[in-house]
Amino acid sequence: MKIDIVSVFPEYFEVLNLSLLGKAQAKGLVTVQAHNLRDWTHDVHHSVDDTPVGGGAGMVMKPEVWSECLDDLLGLAPAIIAADAAVDDAVADDAAVDPSRPVLIFPNPSAPLFTQQDATELSHADHLLFGCGRYEGYDARIPQYYRAQGVDVREYSIGDYVLNGGEVAVSVMLEAITRLMPGFMGNPASIVEESYTGGNALLEHRQYTKPAEWRGLRVPDVLLSGDHGKVDRFRRDEALSKTSGLRPDLIEGLDCTQLDKADRKTLMSLGWEVSGPHPRKR
Ligand code: ADE
Repeated sequence: MKIDIVSVFPEYFEVLNLSLLGKAQAKGLVTVQAHNLRDWTHDVHHSVDDTPVGGGAGMVMKPEVWSECLDDLLGLAPAIIAADAAVDDAVADDAAVDPSRPVLIFPNPSAPLFTQQDATELSHADHLLFGCGRYEGYDARIPQYYRAQGVDVREYSIGDYVLNGGEVAVSVMLEAITRLMPGFMGNPASIVEESYTGGNALLEHRQYTKPAEWRGLRVPDVLLSGDHGKVDRFRRDEALSKTSGLRPDLIEGLDCTQLDKADRKTLMSLGWEVSGPHPRKR
């Protein structure tokens, strides 16, 4: 996978040379290149922003600088959108990625939430290009224009809070995406078992390691029993009860036909109705 990142702080991404992503780069599984947006400016101040049209506080990133940069990185010639052309204003969705098409991603606090499903989909792409906004964001015509050029453009928020720029959001998304690539993780089984994975996402059960007793606190006996069936059931019940308490929205998204008899019993004891297509709180 080829990953390009455009930012006014490209040094920020030096951390990507560490840890598992650093190893994946050394193995040739991914190449990551961070570019400085200011390299595409022509004025003495290397300015990338301007005041918002219509007034208001802050500064907005200029489309001309971004387009010179993105045209270069995507290998596109400049074009003019016809006045009567239908311009697609759709924001990111969970559409399937076509690996042969680059995906242009803009972190944006006003976009749909980035989820594990998006990370899974994007892990199939051959080329990801991230554009980090700063200040009050970027001119809205930038994603519109590249969609009109046939680029798969997506915008994502990483949570309901506002950061100073897209750099942290890109790091978060990149880590979530790249760890799903085949060959990235030492033990791929650890991905299969974790929270938010698969169509029936639950928060993961608690984990313990040795010793069985530490400072007076014991690991639950069932985990020491060696009975794999009982261990699986205990963990599944814990995942159901934890998710029911902390993220009932995830329980509401479960497919009842995928639940076994014991799952249903546990959910009913937690106050859920499980006779319909999805659980409903009683
Ligand atoms: N830029 C600023 N805040 C952000 C957020 N929450 N998610 C994505 N990009 C952002």
